[in-house]
Amino acid sequence: MTDQAPTPSEGPVPYSGPDRVLSGVQPSGDLHLGNYLGALKKFARLQHEIPTFIFVADYHAITVWQEPAKLKQQVREIAAAYLATGLDPKVATIFAQSAVPEHAELAWIFNCVARLGWLDRMTQFKEKSGKHKERSSVGLYTYPVLQAADILAYKATKVPVGDDQKQHLELTRDIAQKFNNDFAAPGFFPLPEPLTQGPGARVMSLRDGAAKMSKSDPSDYSRINLTDDADAIAQKIRKARTDAEPLPETAEGLEGRAEAKNLVGIYAALAGKAEAEVLAEYAGQGFGAFKPKLADLAVAVMGPIGGEMRRLLSDPGEIDRVLTDGAARARAIAAPTLAEVKALVGFWGA
Ligand code: TYM
Repeated sequence: MTDQAPTPSEGPVPYSGPDRVLSGVQPSGDLHLGNYLGALKKFARLQHEIPTFIFVADYHAITVWQEPAKLKQQVREIAAAYLATGLDPKVATIFAQSAVPEHAELAWIFNCVARLGWLDRMTQFKEKSGKHKERSSVGLYTYPVLQAADILAYKATKVPVGDDQKQHLELTRDIAQKFNNDFAAPGFFPLPEPLTQGPGARVMSLRDGAAKMSKSDPSDYSRINLTDDADAIAQKIRKARTDAEPLPETAEGLEGRAEAKNLVGIYAALAGKAEAEVLAEYAGQGFGAFKPKLADLAVAVMGPIGGEMRRLLSDPGEIDRVLTDGAARARAIAAPTLAEVKALVGFWGA
């Protein structure tokens, strides 16, 4: 018995459908500056260029334990962050993943396309499961397959994410390619590309330039949260780890200075400038001078976002209306994709 579909005779056929943007964030802890610069900031810009679908990844969140009484509110918080960072629900489609069950149904089919060997290579599973792999949920292991379904249910071509998601995007392309081959549907799914350009793609911890800024870091001083007030933001930047050298004239001068490089990168991403421009402005100055400027900039950009999130969360009715409307619009795209997939697979009734 063979477990492989026949090899197609012709080579890959390019996708010829429309461009679509899709991305999501898990409702599993406070959002931080890394999420903002790596992902959310890009969503608001892209919505005006390409049809954009942005969701709250609550199916993904339950791959680790989530308190049922809190999950709905966590979803609303991410939706509030989307709106506060400039997503316009009249332009972009904003929804909760669990309100579009097509994601889960497509994920099952993809579970039968993806190979164990592909998932065994996923570094995020290794990091998240730690020493006790056998105690992790099965969902945590197949997490990237669900991510592929999120993307391909909309035949999305562009996925704005931080650097840490690149491997999941490679897996998505492998699944799309194998599906197209196995079911003799050349060019059916696009091979989506991650949008990770720019200085905010990998924001590091403020306490350790070798570790990613993360919701799971036990030290709150390692990150700036989207809901931090001006005092907290300024204090965290003041206490951020640095070195004693002044800022160099060129980016090469930051090599081997991970903490300095991170702060310059954060400044550049917040200001919408290239690292080289920031260095041209601050070369020769020490962190005693640079940090207050960075703090002012961070407060100016992040302060209003936190304020708007608090305003939105004080009236969940508005957020709930956005999510309800978004789910209907999302399903209008995802359901026909799934119907086509089921017909290709050969399911009864499809
Ligand atoms: P999540 O919720 O962990 O993170 C949300 C987004 O923030 C980015 N990010 C960072 N960017 C720069 N520097 C950092 N320190 C940093 N930390 C996080 C992440 O790269 C991500 O873009 N698997 C995804 C959620 C997801 C998804 C999808 C994304 C589910 N399905 C489909 C795109 C498409 C995740 O865990 O993101």
